Amino acid sequence: MAGLEYNSTTGEPFLRLPAPFTNFIITPPRLSDAAPSVEIMTQPSVAKWMGPSILLEYNVDKATAWLTKLKAETDAATEELRATAQTRGPVSACPLRHLREVQTDGTEIFLGDVGIWRSSWPEVLDAEERARLVTENNARPAGDPEIAWHVSYYLAPSHQGRGLTTVAVKTLIKEFGIPWMRTKYLRSGVFQGNPASLRVLQKCGFEIVDTLVNHVEIGGEKTTVYLVELRVPDSMPL
Ligand SMILES: CC(C)(COP(=O)(O)OP(=O)(O)OC[C@H]1O[C@@H](n2cnc3c(N)ncnc32)[C@H](O)[C@@H]1OP(=O)(O)O)[C@@H](O)C(=O)NCCC(=O)NCCS
Repeated sequence: MAGLEYNSTTGEPFLRLPAPFTNFIITPPRLSDAAPSVEIMTQPSVAKWMGPSILLEYNVDKATAWLTKLKAETDAATEELRATAQTRGPVSACPLRHLREVQTDGTEIFLGDVGIWRSSWPEVLDAEERARLVTENNARPAGDPEIAWHVSYYLAPSHQGRGLTTVAVKTLIKEFGIPWMRTKYLRSGVFQGNPASLRVLQKCGFEIVDTLVNHVEIGGEKTTVYLVELRVPDSMPL
């Protein structure tokens, strides 16, 4: 793998996926991703698994508001990356978030989101306890091995079923999380009935650590959530 690279025109950091996916890259988000992200996230097969808020009417205005907030965070992370380039971090957040296909003419097509970010403990239903966990986790300094990182993703249906998300998650962990953030602990949650998502995480080394039966309400139905974790060993065989 090539490791972290910078776009010679825009200055954006990016990761290129390994063969046979070398025409796919993970970059920071861009405001121009609003419309294509809505197109993907409102497809029923994607929206179904993205959590209750996405089931409500998602549109370009909402996506733009989300991307503006997200971009402010990833811009700050990019600055931190440049400032700590000599020591290869550690940085406190990941600036890379959106998966793109690079066409033969150099244009890029937005395909989805693949992120590693500080856990927001969404499965903790008690608001006070969740806020305590988030505050504690966010206060941890860059490089702290106890930081809990959350992994999330969605991919355009046109590109599903080729192993792309698995390789994107592995690349992000191996080529950014571990070397630049010293990531040691990753977690995520998967709704029951979403075997593709669970399989992606299991292929990346995650294991189910808890099953929260009928835990959240989605579309009027109580749904079970599998909590999954990965404790990164000193030599990670990804
Ligand atoms: C989850 C998602 C990102 C997977 O993307 P992808 O690029 O197709 O995933 P991959 O091809 O890397 O791996 C999918 C794995 O799930 C398996 N899988 C897919 N559908 C399955 C099913 N119904 N039952 C069992 N396994 C299934 C695939 O066979 C593959 O495993 P394999 O390589 O061992 O054969 C994509 O389906 C998606 O965007 N879904 C909607 C959004 C979502 O669910 N996000 C996650 C929220 S937790």
